[in-house]
Amino acid sequence: MSSTGSNIADIRKDYRLAELDEATAGDDPLAFFGKWFAEAEQAKVLEINAMTLATVDADNKPHARIVLLKGLDATGFVFFTNYNSAKGHDLDVNPFASSVFFWQELERQVRIEGITEKLEPEENDSYFHSRPAGSQLGAWASPQSRIISSRDILNENYKLYEDKYKESIPRPPHWGGYRIIPHRIEFWQGRSSRMHDRILFVYESGQWRKFRLAP
Ligand SMILES: Cc1cc2nc3c(=O)[nH]c(=O)nc-3n(C[C@H](O)[C@H](O)[C@H](O)COP(=O)(O)O)c2cc1C
Repeated sequence: MSSTGSNIADIRKDYRLAELDEATAGDDPLAFFGKWFAEAEQAKVLEINAMTLATVDADNKPHARIVLLKGLDATGFVFFTNYNSAKGHDLDVNPFASSVFFWQELERQVRIEGITEKLEPEENDSYFHSRPAGSQLGAWASPQSRIISSRDILNENYKLYEDKYKESIPRPPHWGGYRIIPHRIEFWQGRSSRMHDRILFVYESGQWRKFRLAP
C-alpha cells in the first residue's frame, strides 16, 4: 500500500519506554487509571482526555468517534454530548459502550468497556455552566449529527440563541453527560518486538479480577 508520501506498510515503531507487570497494576483498575492519567499529564501528552468512544446502533452496527473525558470517580468515566445525537440514539437502544485512550508519548493504550447511564440533571447543569459562553450557545445552535443544508444554518442558529439568551444561557434539555460504568479495563504498555504487556481487569461477582493477556 502506498500513500502520497511514504509507503504506509513500511511505517512502524518499536516500543521501548516502559514495562507493566501485575504487581504495578495493583487491584483497583480505576485507581491505576488515575495513576497512568497523572503520568500522562506529567509527560504532557497532547489531548490527554480525548478518547475514542464506540457505540452500537439498533441494527447492531458499531460507530466510533472521539469525545473528551470530563470526569473520573470510583464509579466510572464521564463524557458530555447531545442526547439527540447519533451516539445518544445508539445508547438509548444499547447502553453498552467501549472507549479507548492512546497516549503515544508513553506508548500506552487503555481500553474501557462498560454500561452507560445518564448523569443527573444537577451534574449536567453544573458542568454546562462551567463551560465558556460560546460553547454553551454552540450546544443550542447545533442539532448534532443531523444533516444540515449549509454552514449558514449553524451561524444563524448561533446568532438567534445569542440574541435570545443575553443574560444567562440555560442548559438545553437534550444536552448532558453519560457515565461509563466499566466492567472491563485493559492496560497496554508497548514493548519491543511486539511483545507488549497487557493487563486486563474484569469485574465479576462484585470484585475485580486481574489477568495477563498475550499481545
Ligand atoms: C478532539 C475531539 C474532541 C471531541 N469531544 C467531543 C465531546 O466531548 N462530545 C461530543 O459530543 N463530541 C465531541 N467531539 C465530536 C465527536 O467526535 C463527533 O463528531 C460528534 O460527537 C458527533 O458524533 P455522532 O454523530 O456519532 O453522535 C470531539 C471530536 C474531537 C476530534
